[in-house]
Amino acid sequence: MRIFLDTANIDDIRRGAALGVVDGVTTNPTLVAREGVDYKTRVLEICDVVDGPISAECISMELEQLVAEARRVAAWHPNVVVKIPMSEVGLQATKRLSAEGIKINTTLVFSANQALLAAKAGTTFVSPFVGRLNDAGHDGTEVIREIVATYDAFNLPAQVLAASIRNPRDVTEAALAGAHIATIPAAVLFQMIQHPLTDRGIEIFLKDAQKYAPV
Ligand code: G3P
Repeated sequence: MRIFLDTANIDDIRRGAALGVVDGVTTNPTLVAREGVDYKTRVLEICDVVDGPISAECISMELEQLVAEARRVAAWHPNVVVKIPMSEVGLQATKRLSAEGIKINTTLVFSANQALLAAKAGTTFVSPFVGRLNDAGHDGTEVIREIVATYDAFNLPAQVLAASIRNPRDVTEAALAGAHIATIPAAVLFQMIQHPLTDRGIEIFLKDAQKYAPV
């Protein structure tokens, strides 16, 4: 499974990228607004740090404006993937843009039917929001499983990008459900490294290593 960072914080992205396990980055208007920076400038900074798909979100709600915005965003950098929210207009735009070779990440996906439509429109990534589904009393992991099964059944090439991940367990569940990618907040990525038994084991080994000459 590929791992993306779900943040627009450049320090977190640098720290995450240094681990050597980060394959891409996803951003959204909320994450960029939190940083108080210009969207394009930040996306280009991210492209300098991570060599992989970098999602940047469009906000136009009208078809022609959305298509024009998506083309502008896609032209920022070859690694930029244009994030388009699931909607009637979003599907129409996806159909047109994907035919031009522009990579789309269909966002705000909450059902297998939405994911099926996005794949048929030619999206590259589909982002089911696991945490927001769970918050609303649904089963986010089950939705991922349904999307993966649908794509597998009909050989649809879109990749399932588990989003709205809230904790390390969500990552494991997404992996077991067959998600191709999980996009993870930096704090969760660093939590994934940790285990109290690892810390305890290191402590014991360091203590015992005092009993012989250093190698
Ligand atoms: O980028 C989309 C996403 O991962 C949102 O997460 O925590 O705002 O539901 P969250």
